[in-house]
Amino acid sequence: MQKSKIIITGGCGYIGSHTAVALQQSGFKVLIIDNLSNSQENVLDKIADITGIKPDFEKADCTNPISIKDIFSKNNDAVGVIHFAALKAVGESVAHPIMYYKNNLNSLMNILENMVEFNIPNLVFSSSACVYGEPEKLPVTEQTPLQPATSPYGATKVMGETIIKDTVRAHPELNAIQLRYFNPIGAHPSGKIGELPNGVPNNLMPYITQTAAGIRERLSIFGNDYPTHDGYCVRDYIDVNDIADAHIDAIQYMIKNNPGIETFNLGTGRGLSVMELIKAFESANNIKINYTIAERRPGDVPELWAISDLANQKLGWAAKRSLEDTLKSAWQWQKNVSGLK
Ligand code: NAD
Ligand code: UD1
Repeated sequence: MQKSKIIITGGCGYIGSHTAVALQQSGFKVLIIDNLSNSQENVLDKIADITGIKPDFEKADCTNPISIKDIFSKNNDAVGVIHFAALKAVGESVAHPIMYYKNNLNSLMNILENMVEFNIPNLVFSSSACVYGEPEKLPVTEQTPLQPATSPYGATKVMGETIIKDTVRAHPELNAIQLRYFNPIGAHPSGKIGELPNGVPNNLMPYITQTAAGIRERLSIFGNDYPTHDGYCVRDYIDVNDIADAHIDAIQYMIKNNPGIETFNLGTGRGLSVMELIKAFESANNIKINYTIAERRPGDVPELWAISDLANQKLGWAAKRSLEDTLKSAWQWQKNVSGLK
């Protein structure tokens, strides 16, 4: 039987590469489109090492109408598109808003236009927990009201969801699932793929692993006077492989149910403070993290975690990796990248 083909934009990146692995292991054929602006082409060989199959690859910019039309016209047998391609650094988006709006929104509109033109019916979109801003009630569900975005990056996710909703309304033959990821962490258990931040990491987990590896002298904890159970910010840290699995469930759900547009939170239901994450990392890996308490980071909300019951009921998905295994995989990946034993 011929394998169903999925186009993954941004598939050489952190979440995309794990999803490519999971899709191939579930029997899908994968075509990756990536401009390699935040990733490396050798990720394709790593995916092949893990799965035995090298995904098809087109180096192209999703904002380029000519190349995307050409790729979609040659691959109009695809059953779906998973759209990861985006710039994602919050601070950079504040400094360069136009770059973020152009890249993230033009990519999305170009992809949608070509899905309609070539009758590719199913889209999965990478949205983010940041659409909830600072919610009045926790944990958040999909019914929690969205808040105005606090950064241009966040605005591209809020606007992206609106663009998709309007497009599906106008083209009922299209299905779309918007997945609001909470805080993805960890790496593939093989240690062959993981997160490769450019320069100094903005996110907590790569900062922890780089501090453990001696690349950074110490981790700055942004604030210890938040109105939370221990004074530190609380987030919902979720294994990237659990996130990857949800994309397969979403594609299969759309193929089976033709649902129109739906939105799901992807979290664990467990809020962890910065300090609790550091302590869990130390105990999972038997290593000490050098840290200091610093000022609050502008734009950080005190607490954010999610209920993902809807994804469980409809997609049959739940986060299943243990925090300990996730934190071990993050450290193993960092050791491999840094050439440590
Ligand atoms: P990533 O930067 O590792 O991967 C994104 C990939 O997209 C990269 O390989 C990059 O080269 C590519 N890309 C960017 N712009 C492109 C363009 N115009 N054309 C073609 N390729 C392009 O990021 P990630 O962490 O894997 O995130 C994937 C998606 O999930 C993004 O949309 C991001 O906003 C979203 N998201 C990520 C997180 C997170 O914490 N990692 C949380 C919420 C949402
Ligand atoms: C951030 C973005 C969010 C984006 C997500 C994924 C902001 C305000 N939010 O989420 O829009 O979707 O990344 O890219 O940037 N922390 C430290 N020290 C550090 C780094 C982080 O104490 O060196 C703390 C932060 O204050 C926060 C927690 O760790 O409380 C998690 O931070 P981070 O990994 O950046 O994720 P978010 O801020 O939740």
